[in-house]
This record gives sequence, structure tokens and C-alpha cells, in this order.
Amino acid sequence: MAWKREDWRANQTVHRVIAAVMAATPMACSSSTADCSNGPANFEIDRALTVEDMVGLLSAKPAVKGWEDVQCDDVCAYLGGGFGGQELKTCDLSLPATDTDGNQVNPGSIKCSGTQPVICEGRRPLGHVEMAEGDQSVGAVLAQMAYLEAAAVDAFEQLAEQLRGFGAPNQLIQRCLLAADDERRHASVIGAHATGHAIPSPLATAAPTDLFSVALHNAVEGCVNEAWAALMAHERSRRLDDPQLRADFAVIAADETRHAQLAWDLHAWFVAQLPTTEAAVVHDAQSTALRRLPQLAVAQAGRVAEMAVLPRSIARAAARDFAARLAA
Ligand SMILES: [Fe+2]
Ligand SMILES: [Fe+2]
Repeated sequence: MAWKREDWRANQTVHRVIAAVMAATPMACSSSTADCSNGPANFEIDRALTVEDMVGLLSAKPAVKGWEDVQCDDVCAYLGGGFGGQELKTCDLSLPATDTDGNQVNPGSIKCSGTQPVICEGRRPLGHVEMAEGDQSVGAVLAQMAYLEAAAVDAFEQLAEQLRGFGAPNQLIQRCLLAADDERRHASVIGAHATGHAIPSPLATAAPTDLFSVALHNAVEGCVNEAWAALMAHERSRRLDDPQLRADFAVIAADETRHAQLAWDLHAWFVAQLPTTEAAVVHDAQSTALRRLPQLAVAQAGRVAEMAVLPRSIARAAARDFAARLAA
């Protein structure tokens, strides 16, 4: 039986989470000018580093062959949610100490800081290459969003093909193809608002396409980032000044919510296919991404205020609430 858009209502977990977070998110800016400022998007990580972190990093980054190859920026990018485009100012790494059986004797540590690019504006395909950042104008941000929407077309088309190869249920494949159509419309609608700004075709490098790699990518990029992008689209649909942008984001928000639900439904299927050890790595990567979401939300709120819409403290609180509800 062909999957129809209306059928997604059978499972609306993500929709309920978004509605609950929005209900708890104040519409007005707080009186603190610091909270409403629009400064640079800095990040800082300062924490212990465990053997489990290293196992997760090596699984998520096939190019890093072993502990001896691990660089400080690899660890910082991995713990930062795996996004490209970080600019590091400082990075100090100490690896965990292990015994001859690989058991942890002492934890290591990672301390790094720098800036993050714009984040969480859709689903990136595996191997996605970020668009170079433009100026800090609304048009430049919209151009970057349109680029990510076009990348999401590729992401869903690739995913549909990969799912076919994995023998996944047809309804999941059909939903990916419908999502690719949605993303094509989003790219066109958002691109039309980015007048005067070039929007290059999305670039991607070769990436692994095995079930584990695709499941890992979906667990973070779909279940966490696209779900957060859906919430941001809902917020833009009620907060932006431009009535046409508000109307366009209302349509995008409904689509992105459906895509995020698709990601969680895919996640359930992927996890059921994987051996326990690989399923645990996927779960850990997703937990890390959910834990990191408040920090990334604050970085996003540091971007152009007209498009970021949530002040930093409200973004942080909303992301904490959102991550906790999704994890539950
Ligand atoms: Fe989209
Ligand atoms: Fe999407």
C-alpha cells in the first residue's frame, strides 16, 4: 500500500514534543539585554574523555584508523556533534589510559574552544560539505538555508535508495521520496527570499553507505538535528516580522515535523536490524547529540537575530526541554 502524507498522523510523537516545548517557550524577549544580544557564536568543551568516547569517535569517523591517529580537533568535532566548519581557538587533548586488555585505568581530558557555523537547518546527506559562510545579513542566512534545503533533497533521495538496498519496508522508502519532494519545494521557497545571494549546488564527499553508518547518521542528523530544525521552523512561523516568511515557514514547519517523525521511525527500524554492539554506538551518538543540543542552540541563537528568533537563554532552555522530551 502506498504511503500517504495523512498516514503520518498515526505516530505523532515528535509533533507532541514540539507542541509541548513551544507551549513552554515564552513569546517575548526577556528584559536582559545580554540574553537578547546577537554576538559571536562561541563554544567551549571542557570534560573528561573516556574509552567509550574514543570507541564512539572511531566508529563515527572511519577515516581515523586508531587511537594513534586521533587529533585534538577530531575529538572536539565529535563531541561537538560532528558538524563541520568549526574554527578552533584552543585545543588540548589527553587520551584515556588503558591496561593491556583495553580497560580504562584513568580517564583522559579534552578542553577546546572556538566558533561554530550555522547549524540544524535541515537534514544533511552523509559526506555533506558546508557552504562557505556569507556576510551576517538576512539574505546570506536565507541563502545558506536554501543550500541546506537542497542538500536535504539529496539526503532523502540517497536514503530512499539505501533503504531499498537494505530491504526496508516500502512505507519508509515512500516517505523518504515524499520528503525529498518537500525539500525541493523548501529550497525553492527559501531561495526566492535570498534575493541577490548566490546559492551553489550542494557538495558532498564520498561517504560510507553501510547500514551502521546510515543508521548512525540518521540517529543524529535526522532524529536530533532535523527535529530541532522543525521546532525552529515552527518558532519562525510565529515570530518573524515578515508575513510572507512566517507563512512559508508554517508550511516548512509542518513538513519538517513529519520528516523528524520519519527519522525516529527509521531509527526504530535501523536499531532492530543492527547487532547489539552497533546499536549501542548509535544510541550513544544520539545521546551525545541530544546532550549537546543546548550548546548548539545557543550558537545558533548567536547568528543573525532576525532569523535566529530565539534569544540565547530561551534557546538553551527550549533545547534542554526538547532534548529531554525526545530522549524520553
Ligand atoms: Fe526542509
Ligand atoms: Fe526536512
